[in-house]
Amino acid sequence: MTDAITLERERGLLTLRLNRPDKKNALTRAMYSDMAQALKQADADPEINAVLITGSSECFTAGNDIADFLEQPPSNLDSPVFQFMLTLLECRKPVIAAVAGAAVGIGTTLLLHCDLVYVSRDARLRMPFVNLGLCPEFGSSLILPRLLGHAKAAELLLLGEGFSGEQAAQWGIATQALGSGEEALAKAREMALRFESLPPEAVRISKQLMKAQDREQLRKAIEEEGALFIQRLRSPEAIAALSGFINRT
Ligand code: COA
Repeated sequence: MTDAITLERERGLLTLRLNRPDKKNALTRAMYSDMAQALKQADADPEINAVLITGSSECFTAGNDIADFLEQPPSNLDSPVFQFMLTLLECRKPVIAAVAGAAVGIGTTLLLHCDLVYVSRDARLRMPFVNLGLCPEFGSSLILPRLLGHAKAAELLLLGEGFSGEQAAQWGIATQALGSGEEALAKAREMALRFESLPPEAVRISKQLMKAQDREQLRKAIEEEGALFIQRLRSPEAIAALSGFINRT
């Protein structure tokens, strides 16, 4: 287990905290593996009622580690990043996110698979896949046009426009926007602990029903996007854009 992911257990709540502050919580292969493993264990543990994913009060995550993308790009759907995506997609227990500061790339798209999402009003969300020579991932090319309509989704996915926590809540990407990162985390924790007093089997079945219609289509979208994403990572467009970030002065 890398120390860039910390696990905290409070009664029936497992909190999975991204903890790599010097790199804005950018996600490495090891971090994806640890998150996938923690989610699987939580799903199988009858003592756990809910999982909370958070970063710090300054930053959720800057998305995938860009150096990792250049040095060890995922080569197939067994790679840690895709294993994490599929594990979150399949998680039967409620997953809650608390977001403050930057939530870039998968930092935004993973929220589309959480059940409750609390953000600070001034959180900065962005999916700059095209800007980096890449393409949408984690089902975002399917979910966002459905949620927002093609024209709004295109602004976010084709132009890579950023948006605030407040907008995320208005658009239904987040459950609620709060005044600060601390408030977002406190609210997320309060709501996550509520699952303790609810019948777990009823919660599990209800989540399953809410996700059932879309699950297979989403899995297919994640796989199709993933295959193209893997190709894009090796494209001259992406290599130039990713190297540009690493070599910026
Ligand atoms: N991968 C690897 N390292 C990253 C990173 C990423 N995704 N995001 C930030 N870092 C590193 C920076 O290189 C820097 O490292 P250094 O101090 O060793 O030079 C450190 O984290 C701090 O980043 P910095 O850009 O100085 O912080 P900031 O507060 O000015 O900006 C962000 C924060 C998140 C807006 C900005 O870092 C950013 O845009 N990151 C890239 C996001 C991205 O494109 N992700 C991939 C999506 S597919």
